[in-house]
Amino acid sequence: MSAREFPPGHVYLVGTGPGDPDLLAVKALRLMQQCDVVLHDNLVTPAIMALVRPEARRIYVGKRRANHALPQEEISALLVRLAREGLRVLRLKAGDPFVFGRGGEEIETLAREGVAFDVVPGITAALGVAAYAGIPLTHRDCAQACVLVTGNRRDGSLDLDWESLARPNQTLAIYMGFQNLAEICTQLVAHGLAATTPAAIVQQGATPRQRVVTGDLATLAALAAEAELQPPTLIIVGEVVRLRERLAWYEASRLEAALMGSVE
Ligand SMILES: C[S@@+](CC[C@H](N)C(=O)[O-])C[C@H]1O[C@@H](n2cnc3c(N)ncnc32)[C@H](O)[C@@H]1O
Repeated sequence: MSAREFPPGHVYLVGTGPGDPDLLAVKALRLMQQCDVVLHDNLVTPAIMALVRPEARRIYVGKRRANHALPQEEISALLVRLAREGLRVLRLKAGDPFVFGRGGEEIETLAREGVAFDVVPGITAALGVAAYAGIPLTHRDCAQACVLVTGNRRDGSLDLDWESLARPNQTLAIYMGFQNLAEICTQLVAHGLAATTPAAIVQQGATPRQRVVTGDLATLAALAAEAELQPPTLIIVGEVVRLRERLAWYEASRLEAALMGSVE
């Protein structure tokens, strides 16, 4: 068997990036064309699933906030069982499996159970979505750091380290913050960021459904509500957001493609 073949009884944990199938790693695509069974989440887009080998069995394991199609322990147990049946198992996760993806938990189970696995990184939402929104996360005129942070509630409260998040010269890329957008903006201002700090929220970035709303910490929540945005969204806070005004290339390229009649 060549080293490039997908061995039976093996699990590949693969990140699929933010949505555009052209952003898949070459290795991810090769494995998608060799697997026997694929377990996928709701954020793995139909355009990406269309590239999986047609004969492969597809198992949707869900995850839309609290409404999980399968609990995490059952997903991990299923991976173990399928691998032990001698199948070539592909676990697809949107973005990167190790960035807010619970990929670590799944392979911990595999390691404990002695199931062989590999990990293929993907482009995480912060990087892919920012690129398609024309927002360079660490443009050196504006930011010395970029923090990837979850805006999801834990135990009913947003237990974030607001003081470290509200530092100047840094960009925040906030995952899973849609439901708490207003509170996030309020807390950042309460902890020292100017209410005029530029901020953006990007819905379904790096897909044909991408929508971007920009404003500042005082206005973003109202603007997002007015635009009726829906998750998944990524929130970006920091001076870098201003650059989108000049660098928003994706919408322009789609418009050009539409005018040429080559857009889906
Ligand atoms: C459970 S996390 C998974 C993150 C993923 N592992 C990654 O590396 O991008 C889901 C969150 O990622 C963000 N996200 C993922 N894909 C996105 C996209 N195409 N556009 C906007 N946000 C996205 C959203 O904040 C969403 O709520």
